[in-house]
Amino acid sequence: MASAASSLTGAGGNERFNQEAAAWDSNPFVHQMSEEAWKAIQQNVPSLQLDKVAKEVDVLEIGCGTGLLSFMVAPKVREVVAVDAAQGMIDVLKTKIEKSEVKNIVPVAVLLEDPEDPALPPADEKAKSGPRRKYDLITSHLVLHHIPDLTPVLKTMLGCLKPGGMVALTDFEDFGPEAKRFHPESKMGGVERHGINAKWIADLMQEIGFVDVDVKAAWNHDKRVERWKGEFTPGQPIGADQGEKMNFTYVLCMGRRPQ
Ligand SMILES: C[S@@+](CC[C@H](N)C(=O)[O-])C[C@H]1O[C@@H](n2cnc3c(N)ncnc32)[C@H](O)[C@@H]1O
Repeated sequence: MASAASSLTGAGGNERFNQEAAAWDSNPFVHQMSEEAWKAIQQNVPSLQLDKVAKEVDVLEIGCGTGLLSFMVAPKVREVVAVDAAQGMIDVLKTKIEKSEVKNIVPVAVLLEDPEDPALPPADEKAKSGPRRKYDLITSHLVLHHIPDLTPVLKTMLGCLKPGGMVALTDFEDFGPEAKRFHPESKMGGVERHGINAKWIADLMQEIGFVDVDVKAAWNHDKRVERWKGEFTPGQPIGADQGEKMNFTYVLCMGRRPQ
């Protein structure tokens, strides 16, 4: 199977996220975008709109980072299995769970490439081995643009879903060459594509076997971007006199595993 891992296991990917993990939550942008993603997911995923049903929903989040979205989703559902390839991100998430009243998040450090990966919880909660759990909903926020080849990852997602289960994946849109301004020069490590092109991913999802595929613009956000490469100082807040505002659209990519 083709690998999703190459950029994440190299210096640009995992190393970058391991380094950024401790300070990740200090950036207001990541909180705001997770809130927008959660709003879009809630509005569009039918099983989350009925409280009684949502309490039975099992969620898998791929690329959870420090769990910003996981903590929003968890109170509404049965359990969130929150997976990230960067151990540093998972360590921060574990500390946050210890300090929180929210206990139905299961953090797992793994680069997910196989629906039957033994790192994932088993279908039978009492058994350690055997088939792995299947999910009603898979989320993944601002992750797809870090994955070199989306085909194996989308196939893995399809394999992790229950029949009729749904993916709701959010990321910024690739609207053309200017989309590359989303990341400042210092954050290009591990960036595999400058956003997600809506038609391209819809076609890919259908080819892979998702049904009811619907990829749509979900929200917009004015982001401060560099006027020239390297204008922003890595690790420093952006000064009031730095950069310029650019509007980005975020897409919500939905599809179901056939019944
Ligand atoms: C830009 S961060 C987003 C983190 C989080 N979703 C947020 O919005 O705060 C992307 C994350 O995806 C993770 N990641 C990328 N590809 C992955 C994969 N195939 N399996 C697990 N984690 C992955 C990275 O380690 C990184 O923490």
